[in-house]
Amino acid sequence: MKIVASAPGKVTLYGEHAVVYKKPAIVASIDRRVTVSCEIRDDDRITIRALNLEIPGVILTYNKDGEIVLETDYGRVLSAVSYIREAISLVSEYTNEFKGADIKIESSMPVGAGLGTSAAVSVATIAAYSKAVGHELSKKEIASLAWETEKRVQGLASPMDSTISTFGGIIYIQPGENSFTHESLDIPVEMPLIIGYVKRKYKTKDMVALVKKYKEKYPEIIDPVIELIGKLVVEAKTALLKGDLIVAGELMNINHGLLDTLGVSSKELNDLVYVTRAFGAYGSKLSGAGGGGAMIALASKERLKEVSTAISISNGLPIDTVIGGPGLLYV
Ligand code: PMV
Repeated sequence: MKIVASAPGKVTLYGEHAVVYKKPAIVASIDRRVTVSCEIRDDDRITIRALNLEIPGVILTYNKDGEIVLETDYGRVLSAVSYIREAISLVSEYTNEFKGADIKIESSMPVGAGLGTSAAVSVATIAAYSKAVGHELSKKEIASLAWETEKRVQGLASPMDSTISTFGGIIYIQPGENSFTHESLDIPVEMPLIIGYVKRKYKTKDMVALVKKYKEKYPEIIDPVIELIGKLVVEAKTALLKGDLIVAGELMNINHGLLDTLGVSSKELNDLVYVTRAFGAYGSKLSGAGGGGAMIALASKERLKEVSTAISISNGLPIDTVIGGPGLLYV
């Protein structure tokens, strides 16, 4: 039997990086998804294929003891592979069940762009593999296992990406010690957003490590910056619930300035952030871990086309999106 699960990517509207230090964040699912299919085999091998990443054939095969039977170069460079392996191993620990399986992954967004692909890969793998081995887990269980997957692969990770990818919508998340709460935000107006993408050289893990390094080196300066991000997220929640897109945009601008202070922006991202404002966006900021990758601009519906053109002429790839769609689905 083949089980197919699909999970969305995300944009962080406010609060990335600070959320790693238990500040709240606001995050929205996007209409770009990762699909993982899982078919149980009659031996103990796991094979991993990537369908639309221009990688032909199996990229990794390993057995129950984790011994690699076949690995291409892609297996080492494609970060999705480490999330798939860790997700499968966590499901086996959790359910006490290991079965060989053929795993196929397909993504409708650039992998490693800051759009939450690693969480979407983790969520969809956990959902598809657990169901295929005969354990249908609740969304809460899947979100927790996906968070654990991210922590194991990245070292440090907040529950933000795994939660939004599982539940979808637009959520306000407040991490706690080893747990978190999240609430779905019902925003009374449409939020026209465009994503701008530039190639990213660094992994999420590197960017999270960079902020940690700065935090340890300059605690008196960096800790208040993280505090401020937490405070603006609370203000942003109030603005969004009122449907005040002007204030929502200004708070995005402030958030971007603080992220730049943390050292996670780049010239390419700053170019897109400023050009979109010059073309009339209410506000713009990098989205995700930074160091390249994604930025978002909030604009009126009428302005969105021009803002998208501004991204193209500044060497970015505009990605149209509708935010707030469904989370994990079995297809
Ligand atoms: O770039 P992404 O999609 O991996 O987002 C990372 C978000 C961070 O806040 C930087 C890390 C985290 O675990 O929340």
